[in-house]
Amino acid sequence: MNITMIGSGYVGLVSGACFADFGHVVTCVDSDASKIERLLRGEIPIYEPGLDDLVASNVRQKRLFFTTDLAPAVKGADAVFIAVGTPSRRGDGHADLSYVFAAAETIGKALDGYTVIVDKSTVPVGTGDEVERIIREANPNADFSVVSNPEFLREGAAIEDFKRPDRVVLGVEDERSKAVMAEIYRPLSLNAPPLVFVNRRTSELIKYAANAFLATKITFINEVADLCEKVGANVQDVSRGIGLDGRIGSKFLHAGPGYGGSCFPKDTLALLKTGQDYSAPLRIVETVVAVNDARKRAMARKVIAALDGSVRGKKIALLGLAFKPNTDDMRDAPSLAIVASLVGDGAKVHAYDPEATSQARPLMPEVVFHEDAYAPIEGADALVIVTEWDAFRALDLEKVKSLLKTPIIVDLRNIYGVDEVRKHGITYVSVGRA
Ligand code: UDX
Repeated sequence: MNITMIGSGYVGLVSGACFADFGHVVTCVDSDASKIERLLRGEIPIYEPGLDDLVASNVRQKRLFFTTDLAPAVKGADAVFIAVGTPSRRGDGHADLSYVFAAAETIGKALDGYTVIVDKSTVPVGTGDEVERIIREANPNADFSVVSNPEFLREGAAIEDFKRPDRVVLGVEDERSKAVMAEIYRPLSLNAPPLVFVNRRTSELIKYAANAFLATKITFINEVADLCEKVGANVQDVSRGIGLDGRIGSKFLHAGPGYGGSCFPKDTLALLKTGQDYSAPLRIVETVVAVNDARKRAMARKVIAALDGSVRGKKIALLGLAFKPNTDDMRDAPSLAIVASLVGDGAKVHAYDPEATSQARPLMPEVVFHEDAYAPIEGADALVIVTEWDAFRALDLEKVKSLLKTPIIVDLRNIYGVDEVRKHGITYVSVGRA
């Protein structure tokens, strides 16, 4: 199949490279000429494990191409994927669809022969209908179908998620486009994930419902963690004890500093807006959003409490700034709220993150950044683990203790055993483990 991917951001680039690796011929298009130039030079603009090799090998085998020129790329394509950004619109939380609609119009003008237009961007229910209308208006004689095919890629594990998905959701309105989509995903049949064919609006909603449910699961266990601290229970044991029930499932039950990232915060807000627009309010999701926002700020208070109620003039070492490990993404990272509160209360914050420093630097100008995990700890009044990078899981705790001015570790990801740390004579505060 000839596939054109519009938008060479995170989703477009990963999806394009994976489709090419399946044997399709893929052209990735982006209006940002400097991004395309970098990609043509073999530079990957985002940090995602394995993506550089995947891109390089498919470029070499002439199955993956990059261009800024959309019209010729659309003309020869069997399917054109729209994978552009849908950020939260400033002010009202609605998804900003201007990039999707602009892409639809340009595609419409360039269409030539039957083409399936596939919406991969996360878009509110009904957007497929609007994309169809825009294309029809731009090119009344065009022969096309519009399909919804949401992505469920986790940053840091995106290639694995693409190639071995739990399911592929496809919102189709006709048999012709269904056949094309089945052919595009046929290489997956070895791993036999279900191709879930539904109508387009259902597919659009599945994406939001999935993300809102996962955000709810995390927020639920975070509140249970707070209760564990009060009643002398252990949240990791609670997670295991409930997660082994197949109806609940063990994933996404790790208590922590609150969810962040490019999807959950934005998608929960957009779903709330859709609920309001259709007079079907999602009160549980509303609460999840509020509880998660409050939690990020509460994490700074946890650090302050561990330091006897004041951080004024104290040095705090933070390990991990990205919203989760294996990414350099700082969007809605809990570290942003934590740093803002600590700095606001007069702390001097020193930090290290294996990949996110250059993204974090402009967002937290007061922070002193270091090149390895031990450097920020030297002379610090406390060490705070914010993101659970593997590199932080086996720190030399004796060395940490000797570097710290006062031996306090606040571990917001529970990556150490309580006794394991305390036996070094370190005060250890974690999440939901009294
Ligand atoms: C998410 C979805 O998983 C993916 O399917 C969707 O397409 C995009 O959004 P991503 O944002 O990359 O992916 O990260 P994910 O691994 O889901 O983590 C999201 C946030 O939840 C992170 O801040 C993470 O630290 C937090 N989290 C996750 C927890 O606090 N506890 C958990 O048990 C799991």
